[in-house]
Parts: sequence; C-alpha cells; structure tokens
Amino acid sequence: SQAVRADILDLLARGSADTRELLRLAGETAAEEGLSVYAVGGFVRDLLLLTPTRDLDLVVEGNGPRFAGVLAAKLGSGELTLHTRFGTANILFPDGRHVDIASMRREYYEYPGALPEVEKSTLRDDLFRRDFTVNAMAIALNPECFGELVDYYGGMRDLLQGEIRLLHNLSFIEDPTRILRALRFAGRYGFKPAKETAGALRTALDSGVLENVSRERFTEELLLVYREAEYRAIGRALVEYGVLSRWFAREYPWNFSGEDGDGSPLQRWLHTLSCLSGQEAEEVLQRLRLPRPFAAYTRTYFRLRGELAQVPPNLPDLDRILNRVPLWLVKLLAREESGEGAAGGGKVLAEYAEALEKMKLSVNGRVLLAAGLREGKTIGAVLARIRSAWLAGEIKSPRDEETLMRRLLAQTERKGQNLV
Ligand code: CTP
Repeated sequence: SQAVRADILDLLARGSADTRELLRLAGETAAEEGLSVYAVGGFVRDLLLLTPTRDLDLVVEGNGPRFAGVLAAKLGSGELTLHTRFGTANILFPDGRHVDIASMRREYYEYPGALPEVEKSTLRDDLFRRDFTVNAMAIALNPECFGELVDYYGGMRDLLQGEIRLLHNLSFIEDPTRILRALRFAGRYGFKPAKETAGALRTALDSGVLENVSRERFTEELLLVYREAEYRAIGRALVEYGVLSRWFAREYPWNFSGEDGDGSPLQRWLHTLSCLSGQEAEEVLQRLRLPRPFAAYTRTYFRLRGELAQVPPNLPDLDRILNRVPLWLVKLLAREESGEGAAGGGKVLAEYAEALEKMKLSVNGRVLLAAGLREGKTIGAVLARIRSAWLAGEIKSPRDEETLMRRLLAQTERKGQNLV
C-alpha cells in the first residue's frame, strides 16, 4: 500500500546515502534495460526492523549477469564477478560491502512481450523458494514503483508479531540447515518460532533429517551462531529443541550462560565448552569440521586446564606453563578457573592474568645483544629476571624496566657475564 511505501522511503532516507544511491541506480538501470529489479531477503527484513542492513540481494527478471555488467559500469567502483551458468553476479565494493544479483527463473519471461502478470508470478516463485516469511519480502526498485513492498506470504505481519515462520511445512525436511537458521534468526531478533514452525521443527528433528546434513554444512551453520551477539540465547534454544543432542548423539553440558558476550567467535566457542571434560570436547571435535585454529585452540585449552590443575598456584609456575599462551586465552582460563568451585589456584591465576595485562615488556633478546651481552644463557636469565619483576609488580613501567635492565647489565659486567 501507499502507506507502507512511504514508510520504506522514510526508512531508506534515514539509512546510508550510498545504499540509497545504489538502489536508485539499480532501478534506473533496470528500467533502461526493460527489466524489473527488486531488493529481496535479509536486506528488506533488516530495513523494516530498523537494524543496520549489510549486504544487498537483488533479483532481476531477466538476465542478471547482463544487468550486473551495466550496473557495475555505471557505478564505476566495485569489482564484478559473473556466474553466467547460474544467472548470478556479484559486485564487491572497496569497503567490503557487496551486492548479489540473481535472475528469476527464465522459462516464463523469455516470450516476447511477456505480461506483467507472468512476471509477477516468477517473483512470487522466487520468494517462495526461501526459508521464512520474514526473509521472503521484496522491495521494487524500478523508478515508477520504487519503494513498493512485495509481501505475498505475510512477512510484515510476522515481523510485527516477532515470529519466524516457514513458508511451507516440508521446508525443514528439504533443507535441514534451516532448523539452525530458524533458531538463529529467532535469537538474533528476540523472536519466537511460530507455533506450526516449532512443530515442524520438532517433527523434522524426530524424523532424523539432521543426519542428512554434512559435517561441513552443520559446522558452518553452527559457527554462524557464534558470530551473533545473542549466541547464548541461540545456543540455549539449540539445546532446548534438542538440535545439539541430535547432532552429537548425546547431551553435553554446554555453557550458554555467563557474561562473556564480547569475545571473538573462537573465545565464545571455548567458553561454551568450559563445562565439558577434555574427553567430551574431543568427541565434539570429531563430529565437526572446524577450521584449524578452532580445533587447535580447543585442544590447547583443555590441555592447559589439565596442566593448571597440577601446578602449584604461584606466579613463576603459572608463567612456566602460560608464557607462550596468548593473553586472551589466559584471561579466558582465569575467568573460568576463578569461578565457583575452582581450585585454590584460581585466584592466583586471576592475579597472573592481571599482571600479564599490565606487563609492557619492551626488552627482548635483540635489545640485550645491542646492549653488549653475548648470545647465550645470560640473555635468557636477564629476560627471565625482568619478566618475573613485571609479574611480581616490582616494576610497573617501561622506565622501571629500563632501570632494572641497566642494573642487571652492570651486574653481569662485574660478574663477567655470569648473572646466575
Ligand atoms: N535461504 C534459504 N535457505 C537457506 C539459506 C538461505 O531459503 N538454507 C534464503 C533466505 O531467504 C535468505 C537468503 O536465502 O534471506 C539469503 O541467505 P543468507 O545470506 O544466509 O541470509 P540473510 O537473511 O541475508 O542472513 P544474514 O542476515 O545472516 O546475512
């Protein structure tokens, strides 16, 4: 309706000028080429939710790659990639944003003078192939109808009600990764799966379709969860619906609580494993195809936890185990080990992490060589001494460090390079 169109124009006016210009240009280009073009999917959803929009998906009735070529030429900037076989194209801008361009199915509109009715039914089909009603809306971009919302499936109603709803009940069976997507979108926007959708989700899980998903695809979907600010709410839903216990074929004590929301996906991942045993974590790894750093850090994390449980709680011993471990991981370990039920070492570990954070070690082997020390044991001893002075709080600034270094150098001279 006209009211919705006015709202959309208003929303676009508040958004980025670059995006507005891009949409306008896309519509203008389509009109010149005798085509129709629409913004679709996540862009429309996020625009209507007042969430910052990221990438733009366009569908064109007609030859998408050709349209993309003309549009890219007009835009000037942006790198064009064509997938002619699939009727898709992509324009990547220098700032990292990108536009995906797809063609609607060809069969219908290749007749000369195809009727607008036919054209509409292809957009309807294109949108019907999508996952949820909130993802199946389009905004017309051609100048004569710029800003008109196309909403065949009640996407707007569901946005307002806060519901994630399938377009048809076999959707989870056809594409079981949508099970994770449903809960990810629900968690991201604070929505709920609609009643029938929750039912279809349970039915699909019970029927065992999740097992048809490859490890790669499942892992990919699971990692997308860890990119979400609301990953803990999503994780709890994955547990409650039994998605994780289905996939991993048993219940694990996933930790989707705590205040650790700001970390990187990798930090969040380790946090969610913090209540598992090393053995359980290893089982989890076997069921996934995690990127190498994820798998490697998972193993490191559990190895360190094992070692920390053995070591006497004092700074030098902790430092012996942790001095090559990245600070973020030490902090993660400290946070977890100093929680309730942690062994006596937890407090010292927290102190250690704090000291490490304050440490501004600027002396290294090269500096000492330049200062006249010969290569060998002495350099190691001087460095160790400076490091432990930082840890113990004996030195607190690069100036203190410099003073200590000079003192140690003078000492080694007196003792003939024989500090220890
Ligand atoms: N889609 C689908 N089924 C899938 C994956 C995607 O139907 N298994 C459809 C959705 O309608 C979605 C569109 O393809 O809107 C683009 O997918 P994607 O980029 O993953 O979705 P966005 O909605 O843009 O998600 P995000 O905000 O996470 O980027």
